[in-house]
Amino acid sequence: MKKSVVFIILICMICVLAVGCAQGVSRKTAEEGPVEKKEDLIVVGFSQVGAESDWRKENSESMRSAFTRDKGYELIFEDAQQKQANQITAIRTFIQRGVDYIVLAPVAEDGWDTVLGEARDAGIPVIVVDRMVNVEDESLFTCWVGSDFRLESQKACRWLKVYLDKQHFKPGDVNIVDIQGTIGSSAQIGRTRGLRDAVIDNGWNLLDAVPGEFTQAKGREATARLLEKYDNINVVYCENDNEAFGALEAIEAAGRRPGRNIRAGDVMVISFDGVSSQALDNLRSGSISCIGECNPLHGPRVRKIIENIEKGETPDKYEYVDEDIFSGYEGITEISVDGKSYPVKIMGK
Ligand code: AHR
Repeated sequence: MKKSVVFIILICMICVLAVGCAQGVSRKTAEEGPVEKKEDLIVVGFSQVGAESDWRKENSESMRSAFTRDKGYELIFEDAQQKQANQITAIRTFIQRGVDYIVLAPVAEDGWDTVLGEARDAGIPVIVVDRMVNVEDESLFTCWVGSDFRLESQKACRWLKVYLDKQHFKPGDVNIVDIQGTIGSSAQIGRTRGLRDAVIDNGWNLLDAVPGEFTQAKGREATARLLEKYDNINVVYCENDNEAFGALEAIEAAGRRPGRNIRAGDVMVISFDGVSSQALDNLRSGSISCIGECNPLHGPRVRKIIENIEKGETPDKYEYVDEDIFSGYEGITEISVDGKSYPVKIMGK
């Protein structure tokens, strides 16, 4: 072969190699082969719980719009459909794909030690969002951001106590049922615990507590069963708004009226989230009496954490979000928990 032809072939090979490097073939994936990084994007693998509630849908939207290409991110979004096994598989896939960050909204608190150990061994920071993880070694995750679910409940229960006192309602006549969220999730644990403490402190009756899985269908089913079982229920404490929407349907189907006038036979509904217009309309009409706010807009918060880590900063291990308490009743404008006052946001008609 002539020297000039060999020279041209060599130049071509160098060009092919150079294009490959410019495209940044930086990561391997088990399922899809090497990830081709066409731009200098930060790759975030997000394992979301599911789409069980209005809150969750809003939260997914917040994450999706915080991590867009024009902001410098590639988001790999995995919906676990409320199953922890799916979340564990998603995290393993993120590790194999070599993402830059793993963001985990855990369905329940327990059962994360092994897979988070694998993420740590791979050198991938894990940011936990919304609910918490219960792990032996806290260095398995970088940080957490979310709600103080127990405080949400303490505020709602305090509102209930102040309301009942104003109506001169005897504690022993308060008969509550608790429609719980997904058992083992921080939102359920905190809200159930807040209610149990308030029941003991105030001398109320807790007739029953049953899981409603944070969905409207389960909230309706559970409330209907309880209304059949007990004829003296006057407070239904729902651990989120979607359960409350189901509870309202069940209360009406049972020939009872949702509302604040429990002396006249109304069933009071207490709830959490306050995200959808349906929930706020129910507050205005009085069919839901009080809602402890749960803020779903975590996308920008998680992005800020990643930006700070990229700058070499160490984020706070725990970041609690400030939240309000909402009601349509104008008679209570402030409540206090552990000596701290919280204004009640009144939803006008
Ligand atoms: O973890 C947050 C809770 O999960 C919200 O209160 C609920 O609506 C959601 O499903």
